[in-house]
Amino acid sequence: MSPADIVRREEFELSFMVKALRTALGAEVIGLDVSQPFDAGTLEVIQQAFFDHHLLVFRDQNLSDEEQVAFSRQFGALEAFPEADKTKSAIEIYNVANVSPEGKHFDINDHRAIYQKVNARFHTDSSYRSIPSLASIMYGIEVLPDGTGGGETEFSNMFKAYDALPTSMKARLKPLYMVHYYEFGRRLYPELPPVPVKERSMVPPVTHPVVRVHPDRDNRRSLFITANAGNEIGGMTLEEGQALHRELVEHVAKVEFCHRHRWRVGDLVMWDNRCLLHRAMAYDMEKHRRVLRRTTVAGTGPIVGPFSHPTK
Ligand code: OGA
Ligand code: MN
Repeated sequence: MSPADIVRREEFELSFMVKALRTALGAEVIGLDVSQPFDAGTLEVIQQAFFDHHLLVFRDQNLSDEEQVAFSRQFGALEAFPEADKTKSAIEIYNVANVSPEGKHFDINDHRAIYQKVNARFHTDSSYRSIPSLASIMYGIEVLPDGTGGGETEFSNMFKAYDALPTSMKARLKPLYMVHYYEFGRRLYPELPPVPVKERSMVPPVTHPVVRVHPDRDNRRSLFITANAGNEIGGMTLEEGQALHRELVEHVAKVEFCHRHRWRVGDLVMWDNRCLLHRAMAYDMEKHRRVLRRTTVAGTGPIVGPFSHPTK
């Protein structure tokens, strides 16, 4: 490191702070405007904080769609969402909203309302893709009024959940692969219309290891399951798979692994989908307005299971 780099580093430390949350994961980045591109030193500090804490909260931001897309691209290529949402300005944006821009609450059959419902179970974004996403980035535009119950996003730390498993369960999970399927989450809600065939055929079922290693965390092991998939586990009957899946979903929901983010307008929250699960906490969707904007950093390769790293 050159002396000039050291001086620049000291300046960064004065200009913003990374403060760990007291819960199972996450940190707040204080005093950083993310609407401007980061210089190399800032990006490095933010990347490191992201790897260390798995979730970063940047409060009091003021971001256009374009600025959020530009912020997100600093961490990798973005996923595209080709759904028919005419209100969005770019294919990389996903509107997480229960109302239209004109303020009308969506009908329950509208795919945007359905999406909100399916998000209520612990999941990790894009696990139904052969290369699931690296990170999701969500920005708070309209949130529930203070003192109103629900509407938070809850996160669960899969490193901690994995570490807390008994040795016998770790051994049992090590060779397993689980089927992840776009439609699975929807099937849990029989009142919802089925996924259209055209949409479904774009994302056929995929399998991923149940235990994964994290490339940016020294191949540390974590659980890779989601409540929206998982009854089909290689080598098990459907009943056995279902029982194991239920047990794991109950395990990850334990409060000691979790952190609940209460949204404020202007929050930008970025999380690591490779080691966290998340879910939307229920709220009165007919009464309140909740508008968030999501961008998603694509993964860089298939999920690697524990056999490639037998000593970890
Ligand atoms: C999502 C999601 C959670 C929330 O958009 O992928 O899970 O709290 N959202 O809305
Ligand atoms: Mn999600």
